[in-house]
Amino acid sequence: MDKKRIAVFASGNGSNFEAIAKACAEGKIDAEVVLCVTDRPGAYVTKRAEKFGVPMIEFRPKDFASKADFETMLLGHLRENKVDLICLAGYMRIIGDVLLGAYEGRIINIHPSLLPAFQGADAIGQALNYGVKVFGVTVHYVDHTLDGGKIISQVAIPYEGSDREELEPLVHAQEHILYPATVQNILKKL
Ligand code: GAR
Repeated sequence: MDKKRIAVFASGNGSNFEAIAKACAEGKIDAEVVLCVTDRPGAYVTKRAEKFGVPMIEFRPKDFASKADFETMLLGHLRENKVDLICLAGYMRIIGDVLLGAYEGRIINIHPSLLPAFQGADAIGQALNYGVKVFGVTVHYVDHTLDGGKIISQVAIPYEGSDREELEPLVHAQEHILYPATVQNILKKL
């Protein structure tokens, strides 16, 4: 059977892109990353994509009249590349009707909190400010809501301190384990 084909959407650093691309290259995910999409041309994820030989689509949302317009452009690339699964990895935009309509149940996201706690931007900062003692990471299906779709997997990270520089690498390290493992698990259901 042909390998499933993954597109990763990222707005920034791209460490989760790399975790997925590496797991595919090492055969830990039985799929191929065929496309990387960013809404921030020049973001560090573009360098990582180059390293893995993954073609990039870089676009500026403000060059389009609407979200529907840029998502229609993206959908063309996704279809052309026969993408089966979209993994959001620090893609800081809400997915709109065009992509959700075409890829319902095949778009997943990683979020650095134990959802439904601390949705939206800077979840780690929100959790630190709240003073929680258990942090975490969630992978979930994407729907119309912000970080609100059905949960697929979670990991808890006990941490009693308040030092962001100490906590952040702990969260990212867990993301880089949980996301590839979750992708591999759900591939069977596609
Ligand atoms: C990750 O921590 C991811 O969970 C978060 O952005 C970071 C991207 O890091 N996503 C969200 O907050 C989504 N609401 P990366 O660019 O190094 O993969």
